[in-house]
Amino acid sequence: MFGEHILHGGDYNPDQWLDHPEVLEEDVRLMKEANVNCVSLGIFAWAALEPEEGKYDFDWMERIIDRLGEDEIQVVLATPSGAMPHWLTQKYPEAMQVQADGKRNLPGKRHNFCYTSPVMRKKIHAIDSALSERFGRKKNVILWHLSNELGGNFADSSCHCELCQEAFRDWLKEKYGTLDNLNRAYWSSFWSHTYSDWSQLHSPAPHGETTMTALTLDWKRFVTHQMSEFTREEIAAVREHSDLPVTTNFMYFFKGLDYGKMRDDLDIISWDNYPFWHKTKDEVPAAVKAAANHNIMRSLKKQPFLLMESTPSSVSWREFNPVKRPGMHMLSSMQAVAHGSDSVQYFQWRKGRGAFEQFHGAVVGHKNGSNTRTFRQVTELGERLNRLSGLIDGTVNRPKAAVIFDWENWWALEDASGPRQDISYIDCILEHYQAMWEAGIDTDFINMDDSLEGYSFVTAPLNYMYKPGYAEKVRKFVEDGGIFATTYFSGIADDTDLCFTGHHPLADVLGIEQEEIDAPSEEFPNSFCYGDKTYAAGNLRELIHAAEGTEVVSVYEEDYVKGEPVVTAHSFGKGKAWYLAAAAGEDFLRVFYKDRLREAGLENALGAELPYGVTVTERVGDGGKEIVFVMNFRDETVKFPAAGSWTDAESGQKYGGTLEIGPFGCIVLKRD
Ligand code: GAL
Repeated sequence: MFGEHILHGGDYNPDQWLDHPEVLEEDVRLMKEANVNCVSLGIFAWAALEPEEGKYDFDWMERIIDRLGEDEIQVVLATPSGAMPHWLTQKYPEAMQVQADGKRNLPGKRHNFCYTSPVMRKKIHAIDSALSERFGRKKNVILWHLSNELGGNFADSSCHCELCQEAFRDWLKEKYGTLDNLNRAYWSSFWSHTYSDWSQLHSPAPHGETTMTALTLDWKRFVTHQMSEFTREEIAAVREHSDLPVTTNFMYFFKGLDYGKMRDDLDIISWDNYPFWHKTKDEVPAAVKAAANHNIMRSLKKQPFLLMESTPSSVSWREFNPVKRPGMHMLSSMQAVAHGSDSVQYFQWRKGRGAFEQFHGAVVGHKNGSNTRTFRQVTELGERLNRLSGLIDGTVNRPKAAVIFDWENWWALEDASGPRQDISYIDCILEHYQAMWEAGIDTDFINMDDSLEGYSFVTAPLNYMYKPGYAEKVRKFVEDGGIFATTYFSGIADDTDLCFTGHHPLADVLGIEQEEIDAPSEEFPNSFCYGDKTYAAGNLRELIHAAEGTEVVSVYEEDYVKGEPVVTAHSFGKGKAWYLAAAAGEDFLRVFYKDRLREAGLENALGAELPYGVTVTERVGDGGKEIVFVMNFRDETVKFPAAGSWTDAESGQKYGGTLEIGPFGCIVLKRD
């Protein structure tokens, strides 16, 4: 576990309250009351830390760190690049981003910096190094929090300035060596777009090139590369005087940066989780999405991660912002721990009085101090986390099932002008994962570069792109006894979006050949039978052919494809590969995955058939330590039979045969 106990606390912005010392004193008292043991400091405090260029004012920060230390509250110390002070943008406008349309941003908002800008890099290096020198060895400072949500939460979070264009060209030169290589990889003779000079290469732009899919892919890769370089510079700066570990807070299904490429620079993965609870009465979609994101974060390093932000109550940026209903704060926080988090941190400790986030949920609101529902829920959770710290110490989830989730595949798939323009990789991944979540089977979310060793079951929905070496890895996985499943529109293109010709790269393993893919409207329904039920074929339907020796499990029941395969199975080596030629709904996926998991010898920790809304995860450690989390995302009590006998790790209550969990409940069990 990171630290001595599960971290509990969150973003603390005392720089907004410096002229209210009584508030700051009250904060520490209330933090103790709320069982807060860790805060993140200084995330957006650049203007307070460096009010004028080169003039640092760190005394207030020191007073606060020390005051927190007196009460044994630990500090995650941020570098302030997340928001730029006005003196900086005024003097060095070139440090601000240029949008795809060529317009330079005006000062304001946040996440506005150009990650290539030498001035920005120099200024942030200087303050990071100074912060490191002053605070990097303080006893209660435990971790560097680099910047904030790199990339910001915009549709296009990249900078398109001239410096970035130059750096992009250099990156391309390094990657391709010659323009001939690049032209071939880009299929650029199409529409006469052959490049004859490196300077003709430009980032994708609404008034310029948006149709060269390989260029768009490379631009996205370059943005991750450049942001990583910026981050490495920040790491070097804080390391000048400190050897504390580093993290940066990642985001919820953030498409702008390939976190898979950034993980190696970081010591600890952390992320910010804001599920849309109570959007509907059925909380399962939100729970599944949050669970998937937790799994992505854990799988990046296969280590416990930190939940760096979550709201103790509501957010303030959705169309409507429900507060967490009774029980949900406990459950959603426990969900993070159940999936491998060693912390529950919030945005934010105290609500500011003004500006954009004045109505965002916080532990301490504008009124009533500690006498609020939110404060009490936070306090109660803090107590529970204290109790659980020893129990989960040294444990993490070690699933035997994995979902292939890859940023480059996401980019290529959704940028392709293919059978439909509304293909959503995330929706598809979530539909497939939901079936496993419902079965209580924990999964890793790994990318195509990751090893498949140790898994019994791997599924790869909409695996459009096949990166070099990936097909060989899957082949070996199946050969050695693994169960593999994949879907329509997979194995289509290589890593520069050039379509494979001849065969699917795993044709021998899957035992199929793809012929064409149809995207029919609702007026052309079709169906297939699996087991003893009929299911609707969805809005993407491939026509495939089964090779000799391939078992055709389901066929289309209607239309011109009647009798052609929908679900196929092919034994290969000691394992089996499954192919789904058509999109299908949750009713089918639920049954399909149940069968596949059984085939792979996997069952949930309880050996139980779980009621809808209930799921199970397991954290394991050395010496056979095994902690099982059972979560009920329904606002009503559930009761169901479970194999084996169990003890509630917190209350000592014994369960034999039947488990009962209250509304939005989570119980933590040890096997007897
Ligand atoms: C996060 C951000 C925080 C705060 C929060 C509000 O994305 O990192 O600074 O803005 O959202 O929900």
